[in-house]
Amino acid sequence: MDAQRVVIDCAEATPYRSGMTISDVAAAPVRTRTARLRHYAMTPPVHFAVEYAINPWMDVSTPVDADLAVAQWDVLRRTYESLGHTVDLVEPVSGLPDMVYAANGGLVVGGTAVVARFAYPQRAGEADAYDAWMVGRGYAPVRTRHVNEGQGDLLVVGSMVLAGYGFRTELAAHEEIADAVGMPVVSLELIDPRFYHLDTALAVLDDTTIAYYPPAFGDEARRRIRTAFPDAIEVASADAYVLGLNVVSDGLHVVLPAAATGLAGQLSDAGFEPIGVDLSELFKGGGSVKCCTLEVYP
Ligand code: ARG
Repeated sequence: MDAQRVVIDCAEATPYRSGMTISDVAAAPVRTRTARLRHYAMTPPVHFAVEYAINPWMDVSTPVDADLAVAQWDVLRRTYESLGHTVDLVEPVSGLPDMVYAANGGLVVGGTAVVARFAYPQRAGEADAYDAWMVGRGYAPVRTRHVNEGQGDLLVVGSMVLAGYGFRTELAAHEEIADAVGMPVVSLELIDPRFYHLDTALAVLDDTTIAYYPPAFGDEARRRIRTAFPDAIEVASADAYVLGLNVVSDGLHVVLPAAATGLAGQLSDAGFEPIGVDLSELFKGGGSVKCCTLEVYP
């Protein structure tokens, strides 16, 4: 076998690092990541403000630049479109400043749309707005009896749903969700108020790969995660505390908060292509990339 041939075979799999022998390179597992075209819904932050504090990131005395929020959000929308994804826009409603966090509007998968039931009265009105959007897309939205904050706490991974509880979505809603969408639901307890939604503490990267911040979870939840995802990427505090896990992945490209530079490096090492975006204004409401993005699963 000539040397040139070996280099070409391994080039996509494992970049050569100093100290590696050619057999290390050849033996390393091949990580081929592939993008799948996605369908997202987003709500422009034209009414965005921090007028109340319902999570530890929100501080009503911090000024918010609403125009900058819209400009940053628009970069995120265009990033998805440049990757070939479809983005639907949801009509923003005045008086609902958190409506930009579209992930919380519900869970749409396999022809079923479950609309959110919000924990706090300040956001309750968003349920009707997301319900109207679902109806407009031809769904008959399912309402739950218990609190569920949509894809803030309900993350689809392959053919199952990882479901957070402890701060917003109620554990009792998980069974309602499983019945509605006909998928197994794995309940994960969140224990740190900074990581109040599952999508602040755990990122779905593809149908079998996740990244997470272990200190955000109870012991049993950590056991469940380790069992289901032995290769999960564990994220450092520095990245978790800039909401670095609040990402959207198409299986190859991972759109993440620009400040999460450590996680970006881990993602590159694992064969993903990180794309950092700056959502500093929306961070003031306790959200970032994933919070602004409701994925419509086929
Ligand atoms: N201010 C919003 C709240 O506290 C932020 C929601 C962030 N959304 C998310 N998917 N984590 O409810």
